[in-house]
Amino acid sequence: MSVFDKFSLKGRCSIVTGAAMGLGKAMAHALADAGSHIVIADIAAGAAAAAAEFRQKGVRALAVRADVTNPEDARRLADAALEAFGRIDVLINNAGICKHEKAEDIKLEDWQAVLDVNLNGVFIVSQAVGRVMIGQKKGSIINIASMSGLVVNTPQCQCSYNASKAGVIMLTKSLASEWAQHNIRVNAIAPGYMKTELTRPYFERGGEMVRRWLDLSPMQRPGTPDELEGIALYLASEASSFTTGAVFVIDGGYTIW
Ligand SMILES: NC(=O)c1ccc[n+]([C@@H]2O[C@H](COP(=O)([O-])OP(=O)(O)OC[C@H]3O[C@@H](n4cnc5c(N)ncnc54)[C@H](O)[C@@H]3O)[C@@H](O)[C@H]2O)c1
Repeated sequence: MSVFDKFSLKGRCSIVTGAAMGLGKAMAHALADAGSHIVIADIAAGAAAAAAEFRQKGVRALAVRADVTNPEDARRLADAALEAFGRIDVLINNAGICKHEKAEDIKLEDWQAVLDVNLNGVFIVSQAVGRVMIGQKKGSIINIASMSGLVVNTPQCQCSYNASKAGVIMLTKSLASEWAQHNIRVNAIAPGYMKTELTRPYFERGGEMVRRWLDLSPMQRPGTPDELEGIALYLASEASSFTTGAVFVIDGGYTIW
């Protein structure tokens, strides 16, 4: 077997949450290019169009309207993937939101909304899909954390986001520890500033905040969604068969300083 064969996902089934756009969609394309069927789980109207985009290039793809904060939706998502493809090999927990608000001002409901999607959502979908993977005795779960789970971004105030992503990192290690015995690997990717729908308004507006972000980045630029494709495929595939509980920081060097 050549090393390239280890990256193949031929005939596998991958669920990617929040894959209607942005980083999730780019990572789903990487898995599809390696041969995987794709299940897009999102609340955005664009999910169906994204699935159609995959089908146009010959990929078996399905869009499921699922809110990651809803356990019933998560169960429906796992059932839909099983019904369509008979198994679930890969789960990328990517759906996420961010709010810039000072700790002294943030409303409790905003704090809870961020924790609910970013941390509870990862747990809820992992539990529903993890139960299937335990039955299969095989699976790879990839959680999209953030460098904000490791360092505090500046100058914006986003304590809810930072806390949620730190939680994702520890949840990743906890699930990796509990589920290694079931042959399920659980890893996290911690991206730095990436240009997507989430951050585009800031990059377009420019100004002091974005200047500060780039000044603090050794590579002096944001990443592009395709720059997460390689790590996503590595973690999804057999190429990473001895990798679990790990956090891969992909940030253009931001956390060096
Ligand atoms: N863009 C960045 O700079 C950056 C940096 C580090 C980490 N991240 C993380 O990467 C992930 C993707 O970010 P992005 O920039 O592509 O964001 P994005 O806003 O472009 O896309 C997020 C997707 O998640 C979906 N989503 C939101 N809430 C949902 C819910 N409750 N249920 C299901 N789907 C939901 C949205 O509809 C959207 O399709 C997030 O977890 C984010 O925190 C992003």
